[in-house]
Amino acid sequence: MPRRILYLNPSAHLGGAERSLVSLLEALDRNQYQPLAALGHPGLLQNELQRLKVPCEVWPFPDAVLRYSRFHRNSIRARAQAGWQLPGFLLRTRALARKLRPLHLLHANGIKSHLQAAWLSATLAPRPLLLWHAHDFPPAGEAGWLLAAAARRADLVIANSQAVAQAWLARIPSLAGRVEVVHNGINLRIFAGGNGPAFRARHRLWPQAPLVGMVGILAPWKGQEIFLQAARRVLDARPEVRFLLVGDDVYDTSGHGGRRQMLESLAADLGLGEAIRFTGFLDAEMADAYAALDLAVHASTRPEPFGMVIIEAMAAGAPVVAAAAGGVLEIIRPGENGWLTPPGDAAGLAQAILKLLADDNLRMRLSRQARADASRNFSMDVYAAKMQSIYDKLVSGIQA
Ligand code: GLC
Repeated sequence: MPRRILYLNPSAHLGGAERSLVSLLEALDRNQYQPLAALGHPGLLQNELQRLKVPCEVWPFPDAVLRYSRFHRNSIRARAQAGWQLPGFLLRTRALARKLRPLHLLHANGIKSHLQAAWLSATLAPRPLLLWHAHDFPPAGEAGWLLAAAARRADLVIANSQAVAQAWLARIPSLAGRVEVVHNGINLRIFAGGNGPAFRARHRLWPQAPLVGMVGILAPWKGQEIFLQAARRVLDARPEVRFLLVGDDVYDTSGHGGRRQMLESLAADLGLGEAIRFTGFLDAEMADAYAALDLAVHASTRPEPFGMVIIEAMAAGAPVVAAAAGGVLEIIRPGENGWLTPPGDAAGLAQAILKLLADDNLRMRLSRQARADASRNFSMDVYAAKMQSIYDKLVSGIQA
């Protein structure tokens, strides 16, 4: 009988952690593992899970818990509200999880789900194994305290990069020996198959102009402002260059809303006018979008835990300029398969963009190496195989 894994994901938007989960489920051996999913709210991830025939339920997170964010000063009232709503929520989720038994393993895919799954693993009988998939650096404050307290429940923590693994070990030293690194993987076939000219035509973009683009959710730390400021400098030197900003406000947590509007007015203030286009969220068209770019920019202002958009661009053959911090340093070898600039440095980014746009050979060389590295290191098959051998190891310690 296949072992039953319950995937717990706090969000149902298609951010990096969710797309990583989709890749894993796409390649998972269903003869050995039967996936089920529970999401913190309804959203596009449900459609993806349906497409993959993964049974999925929504176990709605209470509003205040959903909004709680490490990137925002949560007011005392908001914190009290979240604390107040938590016990009822946990009891409800336990009742729901009981109906899904037998559950052999809980795979928690985000900080809020780590806590939720720790509670489930502590209170369900028989006890499911607990795996925390860390897609982010550990939070500070009360969420950090709670995580540290719950950490003894986790049978294993998978970090999406060495950088994230080290941060977790530094924050919660008792995890020593229970943290493994598995880099993300993607469906290479999809990303390598984009049609750039078709994308430009469909979106009425400039058919010929050199196009520099940035892809990512519009979160405050993703650095879209830096990209816009760099765009201004690039335009001053090369007025024919054009820019694309792909992504939208997606997260529900406080401090994450209204970015699109803010960035559009910043672009207007910088006088970028017709030289930039905001596409909003793209889903099925992502491969085409990367293929349309002469250069892909990553500009996170805090260390990026991993950087899905970087490996996607690499697989698509778009040369990448990325912000040198966090997991990015495990993906990009500067001057070989991409280019690095200091995080938060718009002038440095502009310089890098200008240098790369001026040198077709360099861009071609980087892109060729990037494609090769992506297929060797970041395929969803390699990723799923690593994850599955971790599942195998974990479940071999328990009785069927
Ligand atoms: C999170 C991280 C991002 C990473 C993704 C997948 O979204 O912020 O860096 O690529 O998870 O692991």
